[in-house]
Amino acid sequence: MPKRLVVLVSGRGSNLQAILSACASGQIPATEVVAVISNRPQAPALALATAAGIPVRCVDHRRFGDRSSFDAALRAQINDFAPDHVALAGFMRRLTPEFAQHYEGRMVNIHPSLLPAFPGLHTHAQALAEGVKLHGATVHFVTADLDAGPIIVQGAVPVLAQDNVDSLAARVLAMEHRIYPQAIAWLVSGRLRMEQGKVTIDGEKAGELSPCIWPGTED
Ligand code: GRF
Repeated sequence: MPKRLVVLVSGRGSNLQAILSACASGQIPATEVVAVISNRPQAPALALATAAGIPVRCVDHRRFGDRSSFDAALRAQINDFAPDHVALAGFMRRLTPEFAQHYEGRMVNIHPSLLPAFPGLHTHAQALAEGVKLHGATVHFVTADLDAGPIIVQGAVPVLAQDNVDSLAARVLAMEHRIYPQAIAWLVSGRLRMEQGKVTIDGEKAGELSPCIWPGTED
C-alpha cells in the first residue's frame, strides 16, 4: 500500500511542486499525495494541485473565531484522507499544541532559515540585517513550539555581499526544494523517526546518508 501524504499550503506551492515531482520520479518512494489543504482560498498551490488531479480542500481561517476551532476543522479535513504523514509546505498558520500533538512524529515542516536562527517570518531580511555569512533551510518535526521541533535536515547556502532579500530567498528556495523531498523520502520509508523528542535517521551514524547539505554536496 502506498503511503498517504496530506500537504498543507497557504501560498505559491513551489515546495508542493517539488514534493509532487519527487513522488512522480520515485525519489519519494511509494507515496501518494492524497490531498492538498489550504487556509487561503486563493492560494495558487490549490490550482497547482487541482491541475495535478489531487483533491483539494480549503479551511478558511477567517471563518473561525479562535485558533482551536480552526484547528479542529482542519484536523477533521485532514483525517478524512486518513494520512500516514502530513507535510506543511508554506503553511502560514500557527497551530495549537493539541493539533501538533495529534500528529506528533508524523508531521513535518520546512522553514527558510538555519534554525534555531530566525524562527517566524521575514527570515531573509533578518539574515541580511544580522550579517550572517551562512543562511539556509531546515526541515523539522512539528511540535507545540513554533519552528522549534526536532531538526531532521538542514541545507546551507552562502550569503553574498551583493544579496538582497529576493536573491537570497531564491537561493534558499532552491535548497528547500532539495532537502524537503529528501526528508519526506526518509520519513515515508520508515528510515526517519522521532523518539522521545530525538530524531533518528537509519544510516546516518554509518555515514550512508547525511542530513547536512550545502551547494555541491551530492544528494
Ligand atoms: C517557503 O520559503 C517556506 O519555507 C516558507 O514559505 C515559503 C513557501 O513557498 N514557510 P512555497 O509556497 O512552497 O512556494
